[in-house]
Amino acid sequence: MLSPPTSKPDVRGAAYCFRCIGCGDLSGVASQDFRCSRCADLLEIIYPSLNEAAGKPNADKLKDVWRQRRLWQSAVDLSGVWRFRDLLPALQNDDQAITLREGCTPLYELPRSARAVGVPRLLAKHQGLNPTGSFKDCGMTVAATFARLAGFKWVACASTGNTSASMAAYAARGGMRSLVLVPEGKISWSKLSQALDYGAVTCQLRTDFDGCLRLLQELVLRAPVYQLNSINPFRLEGQKTLALELLDQLDWQPPDHIIVPGGNLGNSSAIGKALLEARDLGLITRLPKLSVIQAEGANALVRTLRETGGKSLVSVQAQTRATAIRIGNPASWKKAIHVLEATGGACEQVSEIEIAQAKAELGLEGIGCEPASAVTLAGLKKLVKQRFVKPEESVVLILTGNLLKDPDFTMDFHRGKLFEGSDGSETVRAGLEPLRRAPMILDAKLDAVIQTLEQAEKSEPPPSLK
Ligand code: F0G
Repeated sequence: MLSPPTSKPDVRGAAYCFRCIGCGDLSGVASQDFRCSRCADLLEIIYPSLNEAAGKPNADKLKDVWRQRRLWQSAVDLSGVWRFRDLLPALQNDDQAITLREGCTPLYELPRSARAVGVPRLLAKHQGLNPTGSFKDCGMTVAATFARLAGFKWVACASTGNTSASMAAYAARGGMRSLVLVPEGKISWSKLSQALDYGAVTCQLRTDFDGCLRLLQELVLRAPVYQLNSINPFRLEGQKTLALELLDQLDWQPPDHIIVPGGNLGNSSAIGKALLEARDLGLITRLPKLSVIQAEGANALVRTLRETGGKSLVSVQAQTRATAIRIGNPASWKKAIHVLEATGGACEQVSEIEIAQAKAELGLEGIGCEPASAVTLAGLKKLVKQRFVKPEESVVLILTGNLLKDPDFTMDFHRGKLFEGSDGSETVRAGLEPLRRAPMILDAKLDAVIQTLEQAEKSEPPPSLK
């Protein structure tokens, strides 16, 4: 075991308070629904001391401490989230953290997709390689920790699947009970099965995600349960570290663009908050443009920006096979618009066929992800065509969930069933053919296998392997 360097950092986490994103009201405590008691807008966590000359940490020192902690063996140093605890709400002692060694996710080069799309450098930060298979773990370690510190025995969430899997795991780890509300028939069994194994009380409600979230908001005002949706600002503080870890991996040289999927819009808000804080603390001198991509069938933010200039939310009846982002009434829309504006990012939508194609293309680079994550590559293609992303610019895609989260989507795609009965044009669907690999059933004979191999050798390699 490596022994810790002698110079332990002198910062142990930051003193925080809650600020309303609407009226700016400051408070030391938050109500159960994490809404402002004056105007009902969402709360965010801020660290007043970090903005004062006396309290502002030295940027080089912070970078150094974060690097050093990678060599240490305590639970909080092994976590890719708590490693950045200097910019997180302070714990009294490190043992309070409920951690599963979240974060520490790889940053992959995507050379073939970069060539195909027409950018010099394309990277993917794979948050699907977190302990429960999605980016939610980074937020959950912080929010579950503060739930337990606040004395709650029960935690709860509404979910399209990943939040519930993550919450159930961290609750179990922290000795709390968990209640999951998911839309009946609209989430993948892989995600639901995780929540069951982690011991959650799991309710499939006859409604959509937005209906589940509405009900949860009422429940937390009536019962002693702590809500762990991304309305909870502690979640966003944890998810913030995704961007800090990314910048650290890039030696604090930001990419030109970061592209993230948008559902309830917590993650984009968290990443944007991290970028703005990093700039204010002098950790970076230039802001990447943060862009959000939605599925065409769940495009509330796209429509909000196009139809109202971002002034009022246009809710939609969400419909997409990328079930993780099947959300029509995103809670954090105002926070997301703020970071889009502050970083100069774009908001786009992509079709079901574009999502499926991008997911298969990423797969052919050896990078599996769930459909909701693939919207990032599909969206990048559009942003390059629109020349919003310029030919010389570097891009990082945030892949949010693991391929194994939604095997039905992948099997339906390869068996040619994904778009059966849909009205997508034949030509567009034909474009997917070279990416499909239907599994074959053969007699258990050597000749049959050799013949298959020879046929495959003669056929064209899939586009991204050329
Ligand atoms: N990608 C995946 C894999 C997700 O699970 C989600 C959201 C998103 C993207 C969108 O992130 O909501 O922060 O904009 N899943 C939630 C859930 C809503 O319940 O698991 P967002």
